[in-house]
Amino acid sequence: MKRLAVLISGRGSNLDALLGAIQRHGWPISVAAVISNRPNAPGLEIARAKGIATEVLDHTQFPDRKAFDAALAQKLETHSPDLVVLAGFMRLLTAEFCVRFRNRLVNIHPSLLPAFKGLETHQQALDAGVRVHGCTVHLVTAELDHGPILAQAVVPVHPDDTVEALAARVLKMEHEIYPMAIAAWLSGQLMMRGDRIINRGEGAFPTQFMPCRLHPDLA
Ligand code: GRF
Repeated sequence: MKRLAVLISGRGSNLDALLGAIQRHGWPISVAAVISNRPNAPGLEIARAKGIATEVLDHTQFPDRKAFDAALAQKLETHSPDLVVLAGFMRLLTAEFCVRFRNRLVNIHPSLLPAFKGLETHQQALDAGVRVHGCTVHLVTAELDHGPILAQAVVPVHPDDTVEALAARVLKMEHEIYPMAIAAWLSGQLMMRGDRIINRGEGAFPTQFMPCRLHPDLA
């Protein structure tokens, strides 16, 4: 059984999708803990409702980023996670933290990296006038929204799109690719070669993983 720790700050829809996928597919993956840096994150309720241990580590109670990250790392290690999943965890992590969890830390970013790093990615996409947009699952390195790419999903951008409509289209794909990519990494189907990820095609358990997913309107 592979162990996950999931870090959240808010809504928790990716957490919910992950828990649903683990159950549906019967993957040998358990979520050991869900940790939030915000005491009122709605995602905590999603975890509690499924009987998963939750913890809060309020970043406002720490003098600086370094102290918070050190406490977070310590807390995480008590759960011995095979993988730490960032699911809407809205904090920059120190280089020290990223190095400590090297190849054990995964994130989903709502753009086709390396385009549109940082915040307000959907607005950035609309401003740039791109025709396609999407999301990226990647291992986390000390550089923001960087790191080896596990999977991407592509959605169309419509001429009359609003940020909300585009965000919803991308989020739906996030919910599909994030659980699959996590399972594929944990099964050993995906592995590092140099500084990139390779897909070996199969792993210790089946994942139905696809490295590139297209929105139905693009297929
Ligand atoms: C998602 O859009 C994710 O890509 C980004 O933060 C958002 C989290 O949403 N990193 P949720 O909390 O999973 O609903």
